[in-house]
Amino acid sequence: MPSPTTMRALVHAGTPGPDGLRIDEVPRPEPGKDDVLIRVDAAGLNRHELFVIDAHAGDDDKIVGADAVGTITAVGVDAGQDLIGRRVLVNPCLGWPTAEDVPEVPTILGGPVQGTFAEFATVPVDNVHPIPDHLSDAEAAALPLAGLTAYRALVTKGRVMAGDHVVITGATGGAGTLALAMAAALGAETTVVTRHEAKVAPARTLGADHVVIGADDLDEKLHAPADLVLDSVGSDSFPSAVRAVRPGGGIISFGATSGPDIELSLRTLFFRQIRLEGTSMGSAAEFESMLRFAAEHTIKPAVHERRRLDEAPEVFRGMAAGHGVGKTVFLP
Ligand SMILES: NC(=O)c1ccc[n+]([C@@H]2O[C@H](COP(=O)([O-])OP(=O)(O)OC[C@H]3O[C@@H](n4cnc5c(N)ncnc54)[C@H](OP(=O)(O)O)[C@@H]3O)[C@@H](O)[C@H]2O)c1
Repeated sequence: MPSPTTMRALVHAGTPGPDGLRIDEVPRPEPGKDDVLIRVDAAGLNRHELFVIDAHAGDDDKIVGADAVGTITAVGVDAGQDLIGRRVLVNPCLGWPTAEDVPEVPTILGGPVQGTFAEFATVPVDNVHPIPDHLSDAEAAALPLAGLTAYRALVTKGRVMAGDHVVITGATGGAGTLALAMAAALGAETTVVTRHEAKVAPARTLGADHVVIGADDLDEKLHAPADLVLDSVGSDSFPSAVRAVRPGGGIISFGATSGPDIELSLRTLFFRQIRLEGTSMGSAAEFESMLRFAAEHTIKPAVHERRRLDEAPEVFRGMAAGHGVGKTVFLP
């Protein structure tokens, strides 16, 4: 019989990377005065979790996981009793109210604070939202982190307009597939970049207008220069992507899957007057705008697999190798 004071969780400790993952029975968290306790029904996987466990070597038990959908089962004294029993999805970015107050580093669930890959998780009451009607539990659990990042990159930072040619690297991943769906909803013409021939057809099925294989010599592969490039691949794509932007166009960087260090001639920026911006996660206000946008345009994350938490080491290794198109969702 399960104990009311413990829970099953995916815990990382000791060895960096997937070898340090194990399923364990750990203390069930209690909500602080402005928090809610959620029984997690589904939790989407992001590369963020892979980076966290690769960098974590301590003996402290770390529970990763940023995304979640579930039911509120307990509340803190100031969180509102009427919330008990509500089904919600979680904004994983903590303590960032509006788009302009950019934090030094966004605080993400499962980064410095315990995350969602467990039977229960506590989150601030301001971070829970109703689940959009058009989404299944698994789809809703795949939306928050990647959807927020893609939305801020395209809308707040990229200011994408209908007819713009938007090029997306890493486009078959979780954030990339959502960026593709959102760019198409904004009326953009889309070109996506993948390393694999086998991912060309799935990318077209997800709505890509054009697909390019390999991020090298992008300027020669595109049918037209980009108005905007969204780059999350980093060292393998960024220098080539800058050359693929039209004079006066922009490039938005939100990740470095292949590595963070590049060599770039500043002449490629200033002569052609390229706008270069970074972005990471997004504010609470942008999260609410993203949910409205997703509902209005029936944006659905592409969920390619639903897995159990005890399969996590294999799933994390698959992500590191770049398997799949779209998102993995854990059903604890
Ligand atoms: N700053 C933020 O707030 C934020 C938020 C979300 C994501 N990110 C970053 O954005 C990136 C994508 O995140 P994600 O969760 O969408 O990851 P993901 O699902 O693993 O997708 C990454 C995609 O990048 C492509 N890729 C290119 N080079 C790769 C390489 N060397 N190794 C593995 N994949 C490679 C793969 O597509 P192909 O196989 O088709 O080439 C893969 O599908 C990560 O770097 C992540 O940290 C940042």
